[in-house]
Amino acid sequence: MANNLRGKKKKKGADLYFQDRIFARKNGCFETKTTMPSYFFGFDHLWKLLKAYGENESMEFAQRWHNEFGNTFNLPFGVGRTVVRTCDPKNVQAILATKFNDFEIAVRQKPFGPLLGNGIFVSDGKAWEHSRALLRPNFVRNQISDIAVYEKHVSQLIKHIPLDGSTVDLQDLFLRMTIDSATEFLFGQSTDTLGNGKSKTGNSSFAENFSISQAKSLTRLLLGPFVVFHRDSEFVKASEESRKYVRRIVEETLEQRALQAEKGSLEGESYVFLHELAKRTQDEKMLTDQLLNILLAGRDTTAALLSITFFTMAKREDVWSKLRTEVLKLEGRQPSFEDLKSMTYLQWVMNEILRLYPIVPFNIRVANKNTVLPTGGGPCGTLPIFIRKGQEVQYSVYTMQRLPEFFGADSNEFKPERWEKLRPGWAYLPFNGGPRVCIGQQFALTEAGYTIVRIVQQFERLESRTPEAFKGNVGLTLSSEYGAKVALTPIQA
Ligand code: HEM
Repeated sequence: MANNLRGKKKKKGADLYFQDRIFARKNGCFETKTTMPSYFFGFDHLWKLLKAYGENESMEFAQRWHNEFGNTFNLPFGVGRTVVRTCDPKNVQAILATKFNDFEIAVRQKPFGPLLGNGIFVSDGKAWEHSRALLRPNFVRNQISDIAVYEKHVSQLIKHIPLDGSTVDLQDLFLRMTIDSATEFLFGQSTDTLGNGKSKTGNSSFAENFSISQAKSLTRLLLGPFVVFHRDSEFVKASEESRKYVRRIVEETLEQRALQAEKGSLEGESYVFLHELAKRTQDEKMLTDQLLNILLAGRDTTAALLSITFFTMAKREDVWSKLRTEVLKLEGRQPSFEDLKSMTYLQWVMNEILRLYPIVPFNIRVANKNTVLPTGGGPCGTLPIFIRKGQEVQYSVYTMQRLPEFFGADSNEFKPERWEKLRPGWAYLPFNGGPRVCIGQQFALTEAGYTIVRIVQQFERLESRTPEAFKGNVGLTLSSEYGAKVALTPIQA
């Protein structure tokens, strides 16, 4: 056991504090099998990765790293910064579930704080538990929710699709649809960006401010510890305006509720997320924070799933045609929640898109105490590794969901049929796992499934208008670099 910490030479042992060594020994830990060779303290790797980001190649780049250095390795990443990178489902399961309490997402608070306050997406520990307990019941109720929420916005979207075979970028329409439906569901007031210019004053500028602040938050995230030096007046203004807009809606809602309570007429209102939350807290800041967090988590993600699905199907006539056969069994009627769940091929298509193109392709956690990951150490790279308090661990969902040992030799191919037999467990995590699993999973899959079915019901042909193969653009979440430019042919009466 040459790599066993017990037998390590003095030089390596000196890197560990005394108590760390005892902990590592007690837990049978080994050194991570591979540390990537580096120059300039690992700035070479940081620079290459940032370059890959700029060229929209970061996911493939990470996959190549793993092909070369294994499923788990140490990555020197700047002076005094070594990151553990993994795509091993056992490690990811430990980080997210079995050792959930040993890790936190700490790194998000500073970059996102000005927009998101202390909401669910950026908080840890008790604050996160409180947010989760507050929000969760609304999503349980929503899971069996009324399909009419989506129909209104999907039918608006369909009106924007040209009927003469000219090119349309569905990605743009999906982004508008998801902010319209999310704001209606969350605030009770839609941004109505797909409407006919009838949106309430301020609503579409909210959509713009929110997008600017979101995009700039990513820059801040990438700056890591240097975020404290970030100065950008556009970011500050866009964040303040977004918060002001939501805060005003929260204030109005609370005032209305107070008035209704006086009159004794609180019940009987139609379902609005904010109204439900307001039954449990009247803390204006808390409500503003949570609404903005959910909007951020839920808007681009669902739009990306839809855009990538249409981008991909437009190049795969066989898949489009199988999906149509399934959809046509509805004989034109609007699908119910149960219909959507029972449409096997539709579910396979969405599963396969989320496998090949996970909308959150990579993620970061930081150890908040000394802990252990189950694999990656020792001479074979299969033994437990020691993770010191403060250690950053990055996991690539993109690479994991393409591992041939779980998905076969054709794991890089788009093949919905593989889901007939596939049961990948922790190797498939588009919505994350463990206590922080995506709270909006059912909402997203219902909205996306419903939208796909309604479009398929209206159009018989789908053609790609992009010669290039899919290229991902990784911002905060994944989107399609080339949009979803297609032409659709309406069903002949
Ligand atoms: C295809 C669509 C979606 C995908 C792929 C997706 C994926 C994810 C993933 C991977 C996470 C974990 C992030 C992390 O912990 O680092 C997450 C968290 C979250 N998602 Fe989603 N999501 C989607 C749609 C939605 C929607 C529609 C909503 C709400 C309406 C939503 C609300 C949330 C919230 C609130 C969290 C934070 C949960 C927590 O930290 O406890 N998501 N999502």
